[in-house]
Amino acid sequence: MPILHWLTREADLRTAAQVPFRLLTEEPALSHGAQASGGEDGLLVQGDNLEALKALLPFYAGRVKCIYIDPPYNTRSAFEHYDDNLEHAQWLGMIVPRLMLLREFLSEDGSIWVHLDDNEAHYLKSILDETLGRRNFVANIIWQKSYAVRSNAEFVSTSTEHILWYCKDRARFSPNNVPRKQEQTDRFSNPDDDPRGPWQSITFTISLLSGARGRQFAKTGKSENLYPIITPSGNKVLPPPGRCWARSEGNYMALRNDDRLWFGPAGDRAPRLKMFLAEADEGVIPVTLWAGGDEYGYNQDGARELAALGINFPTPKPERLIRRILHIATNPGDLVLDSFLGSGTTAAVAHKMGRRWIGVEMGDHARTHCATRLRKVIEGEQGGISKDVGWQGGGGFRFVTLGPRVYDENGVIAPEVRFADLARHVWFSETRRPLDGVPDKPLLGIVSPPPRAEVPEDEGEAPPPPADRAVALLFNGILKDRSPQGGNVLTRATLALIREALPQGFTGTLTVYATACRLSPATLKRERVQFRQTPYDLNAGGL
Ligand SMILES: C[S@@+](CC[C@H](N)C(=O)[O-])C[C@H]1O[C@@H](n2cnc3c(N)ncnc32)[C@H](O)[C@@H]1O
Repeated sequence: MPILHWLTREADLRTAAQVPFRLLTEEPALSHGAQASGGEDGLLVQGDNLEALKALLPFYAGRVKCIYIDPPYNTRSAFEHYDDNLEHAQWLGMIVPRLMLLREFLSEDGSIWVHLDDNEAHYLKSILDETLGRRNFVANIIWQKSYAVRSNAEFVSTSTEHILWYCKDRARFSPNNVPRKQEQTDRFSNPDDDPRGPWQSITFTISLLSGARGRQFAKTGKSENLYPIITPSGNKVLPPPGRCWARSEGNYMALRNDDRLWFGPAGDRAPRLKMFLAEADEGVIPVTLWAGGDEYGYNQDGARELAALGINFPTPKPERLIRRILHIATNPGDLVLDSFLGSGTTAAVAHKMGRRWIGVEMGDHARTHCATRLRKVIEGEQGGISKDVGWQGGGGFRFVTLGPRVYDENGVIAPEVRFADLARHVWFSETRRPLDGVPDKPLLGIVSPPPRAEVPEDEGEAPPPPADRAVALLFNGILKDRSPQGGNVLTRATLALIREALPQGFTGTLTVYATACRLSPATLKRERVQFRQTPYDLNAGGL
């Protein structure tokens, strides 16, 4: 696949892996309603998203259903709250490692939406093809940001922006349809008083040369669907040149007998298929042109919504736009992530729509704008989409900042690191998945290998399936100081204690992280134990 090159590309591709893991530290004074809501609704992180995303990975890798980001577009502007003026290659170097991290958060059925303007969108398309896979490109949504014409523009008044939409895995992706517009419903009528109610007629022909079904006829230019039809008025009709009927003759007869074909008011035209409103899907498939304030909002709606909350921010998106994205990409309870949160629009909309959310913003407006806005949302703020979704308030969020590195380049683990913190890192490093619950014992869990495809009989006997693998951590005196060194060393005694927690008959390998090991290589082999030394072997899995 052709790829985009720039001077620092190779180094930029390595950046994400080199970013240290940090602890997240809560600032309870800025959290709101989190305790009452179990702290599950929202997480607002202040910090550079490169480090913040890395810190969040052990908690949320593979768990996010929808990522929406609206990064600085590189417009060469200096906005009041952030700068938007990087040299072109520097901008690529900024976005690439972040996209690599963002991809790790997506669930297998998730999607990512990247909002940009013409400055960088086309370069980013190429980078997203590389990061997410070209086959996972869904659409380039064209959003009309304004209807006003800027007559002082240099050559043309720009009224649209791009939202590049990719899914994690096309085979598992199943976006929601969007509500049918009134004008679309109005196209249904009932001129023949059909008892099944209003209907709309659609074509009853397909091309012989193109289209999914037409392709099978393309080679021969012939089809069994080329038969004459006699209309109710007695006319003999054939499909237009290059086309055939959409169904075989047998299916056509069944449709005709069920009064599902429309031959025009006088019964003398070629048939069209009746599509009943009652049988149509509840929604309609989204289109790529998003134009119209009522449905998608304009930039000025975003500014107005914020002004009504007493908040001033240069580039907020309208809540309706984000609502449409979250409607398509998520269902209630799903997790949404925005790592360029700005004034907090994505978090506010997600919260009002009953989605869980994570927002990352590095500027001080994480406190002054995002936290303030979300507090108001929780208290039942009635602007933006509130009335449309029946928002009455409730829920909560936690506000966190980036704490110390979990361990530094010399292998020193920060004194603030508790057993649960390191346990999450160890588990994530071994499995690339987050650890459920709060760990409080050395045995962190058992990893089962993914199911394997069946081996066809004629390829001989299948090799034995790989065994389960258990992962354990000795750290911070988790065994309540069973010396030496507070029980952080792998010895016969600590190994026996770990084994006690394993299920009866466990025959897989056991990976143990500890500060040192007193067992001989022969014993480790016999016991099927793999020793990993903390902190040097942490992050064994990369990223
Ligand atoms: C275009 S604004 C987002 C506006 C947002 N969609 C809204 O509706 O308010 C981009 C935001 O990304 C933030 N940002 C830029 N670089 C960042 C980084 N490295 N980490 C976290 N936030 C960043 C900026 O401070 C700015 O608030």
